[in-house]
Amino acid sequence: ESPGALQGKHVVITAGPTREAIDPVRYLSNYSSGKMGYALATAAQAAGARVTLISGPVQLSTPSGVQRIDVITADDMLKATQAVTDMDVFIGCAAVADFRPASMASQKMKKQHGEDSLQLSLVKNPDILAWVAKQSPKPFCVGFAAETQNLDHYAKDKMQRKNLDMIIANDVSNTNIGFNSDHNAVTVFWQNNKKHLEAQSKQSIATEVIGFIAQQTTSQPEE
Ligand code: C5P
Repeated sequence: ESPGALQGKHVVITAGPTREAIDPVRYLSNYSSGKMGYALATAAQAAGARVTLISGPVQLSTPSGVQRIDVITADDMLKATQAVTDMDVFIGCAAVADFRPASMASQKMKKQHGEDSLQLSLVKNPDILAWVAKQSPKPFCVGFAAETQNLDHYAKDKMQRKNLDMIIANDVSNTNIGFNSDHNAVTVFWQNNKKHLEAQSKQSIATEVIGFIAQQTTSQPEE
């Protein structure tokens, strides 16, 4: 892609995991490293976009020129997203916890003598990407999908159900890539297009994906 393909566009990206508090010292979370979202932020910035990165807790440094907003919970991530008024492109790359504890204990939960199990009651978290895709005007919305089977079918179904413009299906069949890895392999779907990106660095996957997004969101003639 030519540099400046996203000149003048505001790209908003969620990245990393969320943490959902159980009590003051414990939480529910997942293994998301945030690397794919940070790579997308770097690539979008390099393509000339103004980039806002809404990030869960990760061990990564902020890409230069990118505005980073740190959040902890899914609710915080939704609020930070809702506070952004002028997005042209939204990429939901965060591994948002699907559920959170129904309530947070105000004190550290104590082990109960004689009790061998504990019931934790969970409630569903808001779907941030689905919220953005319901807005009007609607930004160009990009989602991720991790599927272990019938990848095409489930990815396209998710794209339709969540009203997305593009979906990136992680190839989770290869256990050497994904999660904390610096590499990934994905299949990207939009409209009637499908592009498989072989195993390569997350940074080069990100550059390709940003190129596809630029093609779809700018009025330049398409190839
Ligand atoms: O439905 P599923 O969780 O598989 O969808 C994944 C996509 O939706 C990802 O792009 C993820 O960032 C986004 N998502 C979200 N908020 C949620 C759950 C998922 O933005 N609560």
